[in-house]
Amino acid sequence: MSNPAQRANKLFVQTFGTLADTLYFAPGRVNLIGEHTDYNDGFVLPAAINFHTIIAIKRREDSQFRAVSDAFPGEMKEWTFGEEGNRPESPEWADYLKGFSSAMAISGLATKGMDLAIVSNVPLGAGLSSSAALEIAFGTAINDANQIQLSPLAIAQLAQRGENHYVGCACGIMDQMISALGQQDHALLIDCLDLDSEAVSIPENLSLIIINSNVKRGLVESEYNLRREQCEQVAAHFQLDSLRHLELADLEAAKDQLSDANYRRAKHVITENRRTQNAAWALESGNISQLSTLMAESHISMRDDFEITVPEIDFLVEIVSSVIGEKGGVRMTGGGFGGCVVALVDHELTDAVVEIVEQQYLDKTGIEATIYLCSASDGAKRLDN
Ligand code: GLA
Repeated sequence: MSNPAQRANKLFVQTFGTLADTLYFAPGRVNLIGEHTDYNDGFVLPAAINFHTIIAIKRREDSQFRAVSDAFPGEMKEWTFGEEGNRPESPEWADYLKGFSSAMAISGLATKGMDLAIVSNVPLGAGLSSSAALEIAFGTAINDANQIQLSPLAIAQLAQRGENHYVGCACGIMDQMISALGQQDHALLIDCLDLDSEAVSIPENLSLIIINSNVKRGLVESEYNLRREQCEQVAAHFQLDSLRHLELADLEAAKDQLSDANYRRAKHVITENRRTQNAAWALESGNISQLSTLMAESHISMRDDFEITVPEIDFLVEIVSSVIGEKGGVRMTGGGFGGCVVALVDHELTDAVVEIVEQQYLDKTGIEATIYLCSASDGAKRLDN
C-alpha cells in the first residue's frame, strides 16, 4: 500500500474529516553495544534505524488531545493537557503520549492540544524502541507545532521522564536520545553522565542486520526494573551516585560483601562501559576484528553476568558468529529477555548470515526469525506534507 506518510494523512482524514497540518517522523533504534549502562551513567552506542513512526497532526485551540493509531484500529484516545490522571495499571499505546504531555505539565511547560493520526512500521515489542519512536514523534510535533523551542535533547529528557513516572518503566535515556538525535550512516556514542554525544560513522563496507528472535518480551513486566535496583544497590554500597566511577579493582576487592548476583551485575556494567568506548574507536577506525571481539565479549557478559539473554538469542548469536568470524560483530541488543540480535558484517557475508538463520533457527527453536536489513537513519524531524 501507499507509503507511511500517505497512510498517516489518509488515517487523519478518515478519522477527523479534515486534512492534517503537518507530519512528524521519529525512528526506532538499535543499540550496537553498551547495554544497561545508560541508567548507570555510562556509555551507549546506538543508531537510529530506517523503521519509524509518523504522526499526522492538526493543532487545536483548546487543550484536548485526540489520537488514533493504525496499529489499534477503531480506538480513539482522548485526554486534556495536564489532566492525564494517575499511572495506568497496564500501560497501552496512548499512555506513552500521555506520559509525555504529563511530563511537560509537571515541568511547567504549556501547550495547546492536537488531533493525531499515528502510523508506524517499528516492530512492536521487539526491543527496537517503538515506544521511544512514538514519544519522540509526539514530542517533536508538540514542540514544533507550538513553537516551544525545546532542543532535541530536552524532548528526549521529557520523554524519559514521562516513561519513568507515568508509564512506570525505569528506563534510561538511550532510546529517546537516539530517536531524537540520530544521524544517517552514524551511530552515536552517548555519555549518559553528561548527555554529551558524538557521531561515529559506520564504515561503508558494513551491513547492519537485525534479527528478531520473535521471543516476546515486555520491559515493564520483565526483570528490567530489578536489574536497575541491583545496580543501584551496588553503587549505594560504595556510597556512589552510580556505577560510573566504580573501578573493577574496587569491585573485586569487595566481592565478599556483595551478593553474587549484585557483584556480576556491576561487573557487567563496568566492563561494558569500557567495551563501548573501545567499540566506538574500533568502528571509527574500521578495525572490524576488534569490534567483533568486543561485541562477542559484550554478549557473554549479558548472558553470564547480567543474565538478560534467553537460549533462542544465544543460539542466534552462536550461528551468526560461526559464519562471520572476525569479519563482523554480533550480540543481543536492547533490554533483553528475548527481542533482537544485532550484527554488523561485511556486505559480502550478508547472504551467509540470512541463510544460516533461515536454515537453522526454526528447526532448533520452533520459532521463525524475522530479519531486517537496516541502515542508520536520521533522528526525529518534521516532514513536508
Ligand atoms: C531499554 C531501555 C534503555 C536501556 C536498554 C538496555 O531499551 O529503554 O534505556 O536501558 O533497555 O540497554
